[in-house]
Amino acid sequence: MATNRTFTMIKPDAVAAGNIGGITKMIEEAGFRIVAMKYTKLTAELAGKFYEVHAERPFYGELVTYMSSGPIVAAILEKDNAVADFRTLIGATNPAEAAEGTIRKIYATSIAANAVHGSDSDDNAAIEGNFYFSQLERF
Ligand code: RTP
Ligand code: MG
Repeated sequence: MATNRTFTMIKPDAVAAGNIGGITKMIEEAGFRIVAMKYTKLTAELAGKFYEVHAERPFYGELVTYMSSGPIVAAILEKDNAVADFRTLIGATNPAEAAEGTIRKIYATSIAANAVHGSDSDDNAAIEGNFYFSQLERF
C-alpha cells in the first residue's frame, strides 16, 4: 500500500563516510521495515531524471553532480504513516536547522550533502520506489 511505504537513499557523502550501518540502524530502530534495498550508483543522466522536479531550482546542477559522485543505497521502507514519520526521523534539509537526534543532525555535513533522501508524499514514494525496484525485488 502506498500509504504505508516511503523511499529513501543514503546519499554519496554518508556512504563515503562509512555511515550506511549507522543510518540503517537508526531507520530500523525507528520501526521501519526494509522492503527493498540496493547498493548502486547513479549516472548524471539518471540523477537528473530522479530530481527532474527540481530542474528549475538554482541548485539542480550541483545536486545532479553530487548525487552521481559516488555510490548510494536506495531502499523502500514500510511503517504506519511512513512518509511523514520518515521526514521527522531525517530532520530538516539543512542540517544546521535539523532537530537533535535526527539522521541529518547526526550525519549530514551541509545542505547539499545531507546524508539521506526521504520522499515528500505517498505519490512520490511510489514513483521513486518504482525508479529503482521492480515488483520482484520487494519482500
Ligand atoms: P530530499 O528530497 O533529498 O529528501 O531533501 P528535501 O526534501 O529535504 O529537500 P528538497 O527541497 O527536496 O531538495 C532536494 C535536495 O537538493 C539539495 N539541496 N541543495 N544548495 C542548496 O541550497 C540545496 N537545497 C537543496 C539537498 O541535497 C536536498 O536534499
Ligand atoms: Mg525532497
